[in-house]
Amino acid sequence: MRVAMVGAGYVGLVSGACFADFGHTVVCVDTAPEKIAALKDGRIPIYEPGLDALVAENVRQSRLAFTTDLRQAVAGADAVFIAVGTPSRRGDGFADLSYVHQAARDIAAAVTGPTVVVTKSTVPVGTGDEVERIVREARPDLAIAVASNPEFLREGAAIADFKRPDRIVIGADDPAAAAVVSELYRPLYLNHAPILVTSRRTAELTKYAANAFLATKITFINEIADLCEQVGADVQEVARGIGLDNRIGRKFLHAGPGYGGSCFPKDTLALVKTAQDAGSPVRLVETVVAVNDSRKRAMARKVAAACGGSVRAKRIAVLGLTFKPNTDDMREAPSLAIIAGLQDAGARIVAYDPEGVEQARAHLTGVEYAADPYTCAEGAQALVIVTEWDAFRALDLKRLRAAMAEPVLVDLRNIYRPEDVRRLGFTYASIGRP
Ligand code: UDX
Ligand code: UDX
Repeated sequence: MRVAMVGAGYVGLVSGACFADFGHTVVCVDTAPEKIAALKDGRIPIYEPGLDALVAENVRQSRLAFTTDLRQAVAGADAVFIAVGTPSRRGDGFADLSYVHQAARDIAAAVTGPTVVVTKSTVPVGTGDEVERIVREARPDLAIAVASNPEFLREGAAIADFKRPDRIVIGADDPAAAAVVSELYRPLYLNHAPILVTSRRTAELTKYAANAFLATKITFINEIADLCEQVGADVQEVARGIGLDNRIGRKFLHAGPGYGGSCFPKDTLALVKTAQDAGSPVRLVETVVAVNDSRKRAMARKVAAACGGSVRAKRIAVLGLTFKPNTDDMREAPSLAIIAGLQDAGARIVAYDPEGVEQARAHLTGVEYAADPYTCAEGAQALVIVTEWDAFRALDLKRLRAAMAEPVLVDLRNIYRPEDVRRLGFTYASIGRP
């Protein structure tokens, strides 16, 4: 089938390349000319493991192409996906739908025959109705259906998540539209990924409910971690003890500095707003948002405590800036609030991240960047692990200790075992462990 993917960001690019890999013919469109130029030149503007090879192979097979010309991309497409950004609107936390509405107008102007417009971006309940109104008003002459097909991709694992999904969710009030979108995923029948066909509004809310639940689960174990520190329990063992109950499940029970990323912070906030607007506030999620925000800032105080109470005029080394490993995405990364807190307390920051430094520079000021973890640690009065990159999982602790001015290690991802680190003379602080 022929697919147009409007928006070549983290989601649009992965979805487009995977649809092409299923055998469909895909054209990815983006309003950012430099992004399209890079993609045409074989350069991937984002870091996502495996994406460069997947894109290159499908471009070589002439199944995947890139353009800024939406008209060309949409002409003759069986399905046109909207995968543009839906960032939090400045100030009030609602999802900014201006890009989605703009894409809908552009698509309506460009379609040449019956097609299905599919929102893949995470959009508040009812957005599909709005997109349908825009498209139908612009093109009363054409039978254009609007469906919802939310994505459940984790950055750093997006290709695997697309090709081996736990489920496909399709929201369509028109059976023919549901059939078109289901057909796109037919190659997945091979591994029996269940396809849920439901109403458009149900599909839109399902996406928010999924992300809000995951954010709640993480915040739950983070608060249990704080309690563990007060009562002398070990949160990793509590997580294991509850996670073995298959009604709870072992995933997403890693206590840390709080969740970040381009989705959880924005989607929890958007759901809170939608619910307040609908007169049915989700008070549990409101609390999750508040607890997570304050948690990131509290981590700076944990570092100060490990440094004897103050970081003033101290050199603090930070390992890991991105919101999670295997991505270059800095959106809402906990490191941003942690570094700001440490700088406000008078610390000087030197940081290292395997992939995130380029994007980090746009978010941080007054930070020195090192080329590797050991250079980063040189002369530091404390070393803070913020993101659990594999590169930080087997550091030569003796070499670190020799390089540092003070042997203080704050491990916000519980990568190390306390006894192993303390045996080398470090002051060691971590999350939810004695
Ligand atoms: C986005 C949303 O942020 C997320 O909530 C949703 O789940 C999926 O789509 P992401 O792909 O990470 O996630 O967004 P982003 O990285 O901002 O990429 C959006 C792309 O759309 C950008 O490349 C932007 O240039 C492009 N765009 C934006 C268009 O092509 N047309 C527009 O009108 C606006
Ligand atoms: C998330 C959802 O997992 C995905 O299904 C949805 O489509 C988009 O949002 P993503 O934001 O890419 O994916 O990353 P994820 O792996 O979910 O991590 C989100 C945040 O939670 C990260 O900051 C991560 O560090 C944190 N996290 C995750 C924890 O602190 N503990 C955990 O156990 C898991």
